[in-house]
Amino acid sequence: MSGPPKILVVGSGGREHALVRALHDSAEHPAVFAAPGNPGMESEATCVPIRATDLAALTGWAAREKPDLVIIGPDSALAIGLADALAKVSVPALGPVRAAARLESSKSFAKQVLQELALPTAPYRVAHSAAEAKRILAGATYPVVLKADGLAAGKGVVVAERESEAFDAIGAWMERGELGESGRVLVIEDFLRGEEASLLVLTDGERWMLFPPARDHKRAYDGDTGPNTGGMGACAPARVPSAQDAIAIARRIVDPLLAELRARGILYRGILYFGLMLTPSGPMVLEINARFGDPEAQVVLPLLDEDALPLFLAAARGSLPPDRHGTFVRYAGAAVCVVLAAPGYPKEPHTGQAIEGLNHARPHGIRFYCAGVDRRAGGFVTSGGRVLGVTARAETLERAREAAYEAVSWIRFDGMQYRRDIAAVLQPGRPIS
Ligand code: AMP
Ligand code: GLY
Repeated sequence: MSGPPKILVVGSGGREHALVRALHDSAEHPAVFAAPGNPGMESEATCVPIRATDLAALTGWAAREKPDLVIIGPDSALAIGLADALAKVSVPALGPVRAAARLESSKSFAKQVLQELALPTAPYRVAHSAAEAKRILAGATYPVVLKADGLAAGKGVVVAERESEAFDAIGAWMERGELGESGRVLVIEDFLRGEEASLLVLTDGERWMLFPPARDHKRAYDGDTGPNTGGMGACAPARVPSAQDAIAIARRIVDPLLAELRARGILYRGILYFGLMLTPSGPMVLEINARFGDPEAQVVLPLLDEDALPLFLAAARGSLPPDRHGTFVRYAGAAVCVVLAAPGYPKEPHTGQAIEGLNHARPHGIRFYCAGVDRRAGGFVTSGGRVLGVTARAETLERAREAAYEAVSWIRFDGMQYRRDIAAVLQPGRPIS
């Protein structure tokens, strides 16, 4: 390679800011671009005004600029085949081709593959019409989990406590089409109890490495109450599973899954994300995503104790070091990210509020990852539901938690909402694995 590498990050959220920052900190001093990025990233990347789902414009840019790597952040870009389009112009991508991204963009496809491989996941049925869904639910024991088959930006899962709630979701998605095509097919699955964890794997299609296990907090309010969101905060390493258990779980799931994809002619190059429920009878796969989690990326990446860029390049080129197969990407300490959300999030976020405190002096280990942030009249304003991810890295989870909440107190905008219990100790009596 001549000169420093040139890397494009596709997307505009907190996850992409964390990627940009990790690249900016790389010893290889890459030229970092973000499409479209956001104004909060401008000191670390050159923002290119192309939307993450503008396939033609992104491919055109890549064909002209010949980046060494394109890292695809959002599921929407993967689902429309950005990795396939980049391959056609010979630009390496960290992100799987469309046929493999179906593991995320079709929950019924993911369930089918998991079942065929006898990997642990909740028992389920698939319904193609409202009448079929209601038939399946006749005599069901509640709670029951209903999942829209397609991508729904965190809005496609309902844990129904009773039949009326299940029928409401069926009416909204399957009869009234409120999620468009994504809600026309329904996955109905058993409710699982336990502790959640996110396992993120970097793979070149054959070999893989594991990032520190992370914990997202998906519900909007303290105590895991309120509606599901994209994620209100995260910590890594998660309290459970242990590092040893995480590797054992990944070995059990990832090798057979990659082998199955290869048998279907797919080399999966990118991030494989497993949402797990650690139940009393063992870990079960809740979902598979084809990308970094958001906000998991905002805790996993700052925790790394080795340069991520050479590993990303190797995964995209199919050359992860054989001696690192099935091991951790090196990490040290613990990180906690608290998401600051706009008032009204997740239903109807109100935007346009001035954000104060972004320039507050930050001690080592504190990072502000910008998501729904825009620039107006020299200052920053809110422009989306999740506005900022405030991350602290420290020796222990407890110290990282304290530092993250102290840093949260430096930021202010009207109606700012956030959870006070990110990374808090588990409630006594809650079942864990
Ligand atoms: P998913 O997008 O499939 O991860 O679902 C979003 C959230 O819904 C998960 O993070 C869980 O909190 C919850 N969830 C999904 N499936 C189940 C299940 N089978 N049992 C209990 N909770 C679930
Ligand atoms: N944090 C969950 C996700 O990215 O899907």
